[in-house]
Amino acid sequence: MASYYVTTPIYYVNDAPHIGHAYTTITADAVARWNRLRGDDVMFLTGTDEHGLKVQRAAQENSCAPIEWADRTVVRFQEAWQQLDIANDDFIRTSEPRHHHSVQQLLQACYDNGDIALQTYEGLYCVSCEAYFTEDDLDDGLCPIHRRPVEHVTEENYFFSLSRYEKPLLDWYEAHPDFVVPDTRRNEALGFIRGGLQDFSISRTSLDWGIRIPWDRKHVTYVWFDALTNYITAAGYASDDAQFAHRWPGVHLIGKDILRFHCVYWPAMLMSGGLLPPRRVHVHGFLLVGGEKMSKTALNQIAPGDLVADFGSDGVRHHFLHDQAFGPDGDFSYEGMVARYNADLANNLGNLMSRVATVVGRKCGGIGPAPRPDSPLTAAVAACVAETADAWERLAPSEALDATWRIIRETNALLEATEPWKADPGPEVDAVLGDALEALRIVAILASVATPRGCEEVWRRIGMEGSVADQRLPEAAAWGGYPGGLAVSTGAPLYPRLR
Ligand code: MSP
Repeated sequence: MASYYVTTPIYYVNDAPHIGHAYTTITADAVARWNRLRGDDVMFLTGTDEHGLKVQRAAQENSCAPIEWADRTVVRFQEAWQQLDIANDDFIRTSEPRHHHSVQQLLQACYDNGDIALQTYEGLYCVSCEAYFTEDDLDDGLCPIHRRPVEHVTEENYFFSLSRYEKPLLDWYEAHPDFVVPDTRRNEALGFIRGGLQDFSISRTSLDWGIRIPWDRKHVTYVWFDALTNYITAAGYASDDAQFAHRWPGVHLIGKDILRFHCVYWPAMLMSGGLLPPRRVHVHGFLLVGGEKMSKTALNQIAPGDLVADFGSDGVRHHFLHDQAFGPDGDFSYEGMVARYNADLANNLGNLMSRVATVVGRKCGGIGPAPRPDSPLTAAVAACVAETADAWERLAPSEALDATWRIIRETNALLEATEPWKADPGPEVDAVLGDALEALRIVAILASVATPRGCEEVWRRIGMEGSVADQRLPEAAAWGGYPGGLAVSTGAPLYPRLR
């Protein structure tokens, strides 16, 4: 079975989960679900980044130990992902022993390879980024990302010889044109590399909360070396060689602010440790609220749970997948969310389901007829299935959902044209309703990656056995799979209209 390993960034536990985090996590979940439907052996990983000064300070401010602080915050992430029906296979916390072991093994491998050495470092440090900047990087003397003052720091640190990897990285990018997508982000990463790479600091002596450098225990590992390694820890590095060989390399989904770490540092660290770079890095833009990036300081964070209360998990998932293109920045709007929910979920999918179930009840005694092999929908549905598949493969959720929703529109058009609710029971009515049930069956499979709850319910109401999640593509989405003769049930609206 082909292995598909997909990850989200691991989230800092100094902050509560907001919809910017949810956006990446929902997309990764949908892609993982899609690949499960394709029959791949999927592993989907998310988790939390718990070490470093930022978390140590957050704990101090709240008068508790860093681990207590992390224990408290991690639950909020786990709860948020549960509310959103995120089906991750593993959840990694960098404070776990398995991760300590793996980071130390990678450090040792890079050290043995001659890529780690002590240097004295002086620089301007942003605690929020956990990164150094040069004077030129600053914006009016402030961190260009957080717009907060930077700190002047002098330390003897271990450094990773990133400069040695300029050529190997350029060669890798050349040989793997899809390593970073979209192209604009690939060019940005290439720009960094071509601009010349500086060795980067990977340890601190001024920090306690982290992983000790194995050969010099005065030093604690710098958070980015620690954090990036999470992806291989969970895949079995340093613990299960067979598993690791099967899982790695994986696919990363990240925001544009952490591109340099994932597209430059991380592949170099892996090469140094004798490992392969990731298979692909997908980079997305920011979800903006009122034109601004969400942040604690701007007080404009929206908690995923608040939206789930209004829209249900399907409503939130569908909105983010459909309306926030995976690439550019996008503005979050409550009104946009209501409009998307009403149009796609209440009026289209929900209405089609209740309409078909009601007419089957009235005209066919509640028993769903079989579809026609050569229905007027057959060709159109096959084209939409192919388009949906192609778009998910390209990680274009919005296009994928558009293609799937076209099946619903075609089916509604067929019903409008034939008006089975007005006709006398008989073969004509059976034929149209059989086709509509078949279309619903196929939509339930394809859309289940975005809206799993509603789709499981459609599956149940049209009388199918088992779970949508157990279906396998491409066979399950081929026209003609609805057997007919199944009890079709009506029920409360799948997606009650809002306002
Ligand atoms: N801990 C690091 C990542 C380490 S990965 C080895 C980190 N954490 S974070 O919690 O600050 O951010 C995690 C992800 O959330 C990043 O990809 C970031 O781009 C994303 N987002 C944070 N705010 C966002 C929006 N407003 N919109 C979209 N994504 C945003 O960085």
